[in-house]
Amino acid sequence: MRPRVLIPAERIAARVRGLGTAIARDLAGGRDAPLLLLALLDGGFCFVADLARALPLPDVEIGFLRTSSYRGGTRSTGVVEREPVPAVAGRSVLIVDDILDTGRTLAAVRGDLTRAGAAAVRACVLLDKPARRIDPDGRADYVGFTIPDVFVIGYGLDHAGRFRHLPDLCVLDDG
Ligand code: XMP
Repeated sequence: MRPRVLIPAERIAARVRGLGTAIARDLAGGRDAPLLLLALLDGGFCFVADLARALPLPDVEIGFLRTSSYRGGTRSTGVVEREPVPAVAGRSVLIVDDILDTGRTLAAVRGDLTRAGAAAVRACVLLDKPARRIDPDGRADYVGFTIPDVFVIGYGLDHAGRFRHLPDLCVLDDG
């Protein structure tokens, strides 16, 4: 299997800077508590690291939540395993994820945060594959790139734990 570049690192960097500017403009945070970026792991680790540093805001809190729906393959299992969300009552939360696919992960985490009393829940994904959407509640307020139904690796995304280190977003070709 050979990675082929889909979106090069320079384009990712430029888009992340644009997202940071838009998010900071829209979600400057409340008077009592700063905006909470809740990054979904494992795939969102590169994206949140760059996005957080692209936010021109004086105060932001970053939390992490491990979720899983793929178990090493290239198709969603349909079951979203996830950790309990942190205490978010009254907070403005931005979920940060690598890719929006069926929508089940974002719908599940959004529901958990709403039940936990968050004042506002929004979501930012680097990639959106609208062709694969099943759950309409799995929607994102900020999207980096809309892509076709291909399995993507690199910039945090993996295939069976491999290729997360690649700086470009790639697809896997046979051979
Ligand atoms: P759902 O289906 O819940 O999926 O929207 C979101 C999660 O599925 C994983 N995912 C991928 N991971 N390459 C990956 O490495 C892909 O092309 C891909 N599509 C979905 C990802 O973990 C995401 O958070």
